Amino acid sequence: MDGCAANPAPRKIMPGATIGVLGGGQLGRMLAHAGGRMGYRFVTLDPTPDSPCGQTARQIVARYDDREAARELARLADVITYEFENVDAGVAAMLEAESYVPQGSGLLFTTQHRLREKRALEAAGARVAPYAEIRSLAELQEAVARLGLPAVLKTATGGYDGKGQWVLREPSDVGPAWAEASRTGAELVLEQFIRFAKELSVIAARRPSGEIRTFPPAENVHVRNILHLSIVPARISDAVRLEAEQLALSIAESLGVVGLIAVEMFLAEDGTLYVNELAPRPHNSGHYTMDACRTSQFEQHIRAICDLPLGDTSLLTPVVMVNVLGEHMKRLMAWLPDADPEAARLGVEPKLHLYGKAEAKKGRKMGHLNVLAPHADAALAWISQSEIWRTEEA
Ligand SMILES: Nc1ncnc2c1ncn2[C@@H]1O[C@H](COP(=O)(O)OP(=O)(O)O)[C@@H](O)[C@H]1O
Ligand SMILES: [Mg+2]
Repeated sequence: MDGCAANPAPRKIMPGATIGVLGGGQLGRMLAHAGGRMGYRFVTLDPTPDSPCGQTARQIVARYDDREAARELARLADVITYEFENVDAGVAAMLEAESYVPQGSGLLFTTQHRLREKRALEAAGARVAPYAEIRSLAELQEAVARLGLPAVLKTATGGYDGKGQWVLREPSDVGPAWAEASRTGAELVLEQFIRFAKELSVIAARRPSGEIRTFPPAENVHVRNILHLSIVPARISDAVRLEAEQLALSIAESLGVVGLIAVEMFLAEDGTLYVNELAPRPHNSGHYTMDACRTSQFEQHIRAICDLPLGDTSLLTPVVMVNVLGEHMKRLMAWLPDADPEAARLGVEPKLHLYGKAEAKKGRKMGHLNVLAPHADAALAWISQSEIWRTEEA
């Protein structure tokens, strides 16, 4: 796979065609729901039988690095997309050779690796947290001396939901973090810890022709490194909102994105925006668009890869998206059947989305609620009084 691989010549993919999705998780499921409504068929490749996407599409049950299975996906599909970034390089090359992959593999190659991603972001004119490539304990010590503490040591590949990360607060954290991190065998990067006022994300969609649109910025709250809330409209100034949108636009243009790109950002206390990371796919912080925007991120992705005109991304109502993890499922199910006078009193409408996952493991994303409200504060008030997200420890 070549880092600067050009995107293939664009084709129009019309309803009735089959869209192949590498990965059968919830993002694939919601893509299939949005595209199915427009008349597309779906086939997914995922190792787990009856995957979230497989429940709404035809499924090939196989490992992601199974070349024969990828060939079968290419044979069945008119166009291929993916719902996660860790696509095996050999599989990506095979799909590009035997099918139509409008997103290309260049962007995947970039976003699969934090160092490549940071260099591409810098080339696009975006600011990233000061960082250093780490290949030895000596390099780590040198980087800590240069960047200061606190800092975050991350694996360059394979991390998600805070996995593959070690926060260094004191000099005595350096040795143990190096011991654990070096054991992963992955390349490592040290980042200065940004004392952010808020975390934001902006999702942009771009068509092969260059048409491009952004969704309204989301203000994101993580708990234990897993996204908990996306608050929209984000509680930021108009100037920051505009800058965040412009940043996403320029990154999407500079990287020649086709389809969606999610741009995660830190807003520092002094108003500076740093780009944290990119995801070349639908993003958890864009789930609010399903009920609160004229066009959802999933529909927009389908439109972009099929080379149809992009939809209007206007926000129809304030909203807070709140994730439902495995540990919340029991209380969610207890809440669901009864009327909720508090929701009525606050004027909020919680819209339920569940992903069809069998096992409710702790920390596993099982679904989300889009809490529509007259003002984001009312949605936040409803969430904080709800039993569903009550923490056991509290
Ligand atoms: N350099 C940093 N400064 C401050 N917080 C950080 C930094 N890097 C990561 N974090 C925190 O950890 C979260 C997860 O890190 P991220 O790099 O986005 O990895 P993941 O792939 O797990 O989403 C971020 O959303 C942020 O809350
Ligand atoms: Mg992240």
